[in-house]
Amino acid sequence: MLAISNLQRRFGGLLAVNDITLGIGAGELVSVIGPNGAGKTTLFNLVSGIDRPDAGRVVFEGADITGMAAQRLAEIGLARTFQHGRVFANLSVMDNVLIGGHVRLRAARPRVPGLGALAELLLAVIRPSAVRGEEAALRDEVRDIVAMFGDRLLPRLDHPAHSLSYANRRRVEIARALALRPKLLLLDEPTAGMNETETTEIQEIVASLKARGQTILLIEHKLGMVMRLSDRVLVMDGGRAIAEGKPQEVRNNPAVIEAYLGHQSTGQEAA
Ligand SMILES: Nc1ncnc2c1ncn2[C@@H]1O[C@H](COP(=O)(O)OP(=O)(O)O)[C@@H](O)[C@H]1O
Ligand SMILES: [Mg+2]
Repeated sequence: MLAISNLQRRFGGLLAVNDITLGIGAGELVSVIGPNGAGKTTLFNLVSGIDRPDAGRVVFEGADITGMAAQRLAEIGLARTFQHGRVFANLSVMDNVLIGGHVRLRAARPRVPGLGALAELLLAVIRPSAVRGEEAALRDEVRDIVAMFGDRLLPRLDHPAHSLSYANRRRVEIARALALRPKLLLLDEPTAGMNETETTEIQEIVASLKARGQTILLIEHKLGMVMRLSDRVLVMDGGRAIAEGKPQEVRNNPAVIEAYLGHQSTGQEAA
């Protein structure tokens, strides 16, 4: 589904992403781990059109998408969430998630050649019942997606995002990405800042998405979650891939223990 090859991104003298090659098959869950500053988010930015690589290629379902804009990538089925969470603070939970559905529907609608934005708007006005039906269906779909998070968001569908807890804003962002019905879902530290209970909930949601066949690229610091969910793990350090393989292989790899755990803990492994 996704083939990243020899991807590189330089910030001044720093190679934030240094020759990364990674493939993801349909239905796979691949995790990217590594210490802070390893280049994980930069890699996501390059894949999701937030940033452009200096070298290398990204191919999605056979098409070269290197350097393609984020909006276009969302339309062709690539959705992401952000490490620090991005929601529209003044929009309700419902409206935030609806955006994902609207992007999908707009992309699916046949474009009438030569028709400008104004004429498209007029068309929408003269077929209001169809549009109303579409909107009602989208709202039902949003409720179904939001229901995945149990009672966390459902009672708050009409609340503005700024009134939500941090964890709930992150849930809204995941829900919005799901409303796109993405072929590939990229999650950048979905449990960052969450407590143990909240982390377990997210882990269960990601597991159920995977069970339904959702292809997922996950950045995650919580190794327990990575070990439980991943088909494969890519370990980055200093922009480079230092290991790749099944969770158990990676966990036992001396270079990983040295680089990853060495930075992160003062435990026995690092001593
Ligand atoms: N826009 C930027 N400009 C300059 N340096 C950046 C930029 N984005 C990231 N970096 C640097 O690139 C390195 C990798 O960052 P990042 O991809 O955020 O790492 P990670 O997500 O693994 O913690 C870091 O040293 C960071 O400071
Ligand atoms: Mg990051």
